[in-house]
Amino acid sequence: MGQVNQMRDVFGTLPHRASDDPALVLAVQNFKGGVGKSTIVSHLSQFFALKGYRVCVIDCDSQASTTAMFGMNPDIDVDEEEDTLYPFLRHGGPKSLHYALRATYWPGIALIPANLGLYDAEYEFAARMAREPTFILDRLRDGVESIADQFDIILLDPPPALGMLSLSVLRAANALLIPAPPNNIDFASTAHFLKMMESTLSELAEHGGAREYSFVKIIASKMNDQKSAHLAIKRMMDAVFPQDMLQATLKDSAEIDNATANLSTVYELTGPATRTETHKRCRAYLDAVGREVELLTRKTWPSHHKALRKEGLL
Ligand SMILES: Nc1ncnc2c1ncn2[C@@H]1O[C@H](COP(=O)(O)OP(=O)(O)OP(=O)(O)O)[C@@H](O)[C@H]1O
Ligand SMILES: [Mg+2]
Repeated sequence: MGQVNQMRDVFGTLPHRASDDPALVLAVQNFKGGVGKSTIVSHLSQFFALKGYRVCVIDCDSQASTTAMFGMNPDIDVDEEEDTLYPFLRHGGPKSLHYALRATYWPGIALIPANLGLYDAEYEFAARMAREPTFILDRLRDGVESIADQFDIILLDPPPALGMLSLSVLRAANALLIPAPPNNIDFASTAHFLKMMESTLSELAEHGGAREYSFVKIIASKMNDQKSAHLAIKRMMDAVFPQDMLQATLKDSAEIDNATANLSTVYELTGPATRTETHKRCRAYLDAVGREVELLTRKTWPSHHKALRKEGLL
């Protein structure tokens, strides 16, 4: 893949943004746990890298599942004092996030890893919040901005709770993708999440300017077409949020489960494993999600508008 991108570079066909287009900073956010945030972050990052974009993944979750998906053992390979967001978030931390960027075995993807130590940042942030709210809330955003010029897309994988890190992620992002499995419990909590988002964002706005998002989309995740309840709730989601649903859904797939169990992604499977129907179907779901997010992203880049118009996409 590195070679393909070298060729693209030679022929000027790399799909990069222009330097004055804003890097997309996409948070895959929902305060509910287990809805597919990390799965979407790791697969989206690889979809974009395969297309030749320059991608950065920031693991903001002390559970570090995304870090593990990229082949790093959070307990062994990651030093919280040197490799994670933690030193940056601490009082008197470094000026930029460059120190934490790690190359991955995926050409085109850099990772800021996480480990359990990052959890301390929650406490330290909460303790400092009363004294210096704007500094705390904007710290991650400043960090993202300190590295943004090197990337087309920065993906943020937040922890599953309404804590200081999650708030910082909402503040650092300029676009949101909200995974919501179409079952009653997850839908109820997603509706709750959206309500909370509204009040949280207006509260955040009081601490120094509202954050405008280029797009906010809900994606039906872990969707099982065989379950009539899932189909019914998906229809309800489409009715309640007609403008806000991603058209593509991320279906519940044994292929994703299997890949995760092996700490890998569906894009990493090779050989005979990739010739099964389950694999092909799963790739199709993932690619459809990737293409839709790619289009939303390119629309935020003025330098891409001419090409998009030519392709009939704008
Ligand atoms: N589309 C899918 N099909 C099958 N399994 C899935 C799918 N999406 C996610 N999973 C599985 O569900 C579990 C939770 O997914 P994931 O870790 O991505 O969720 P999360 O929202 O990041 O969780 P947390 O809130 O704990 O960070 C994982 O075991 C993952 O393999
Ligand atoms: Mg996760």
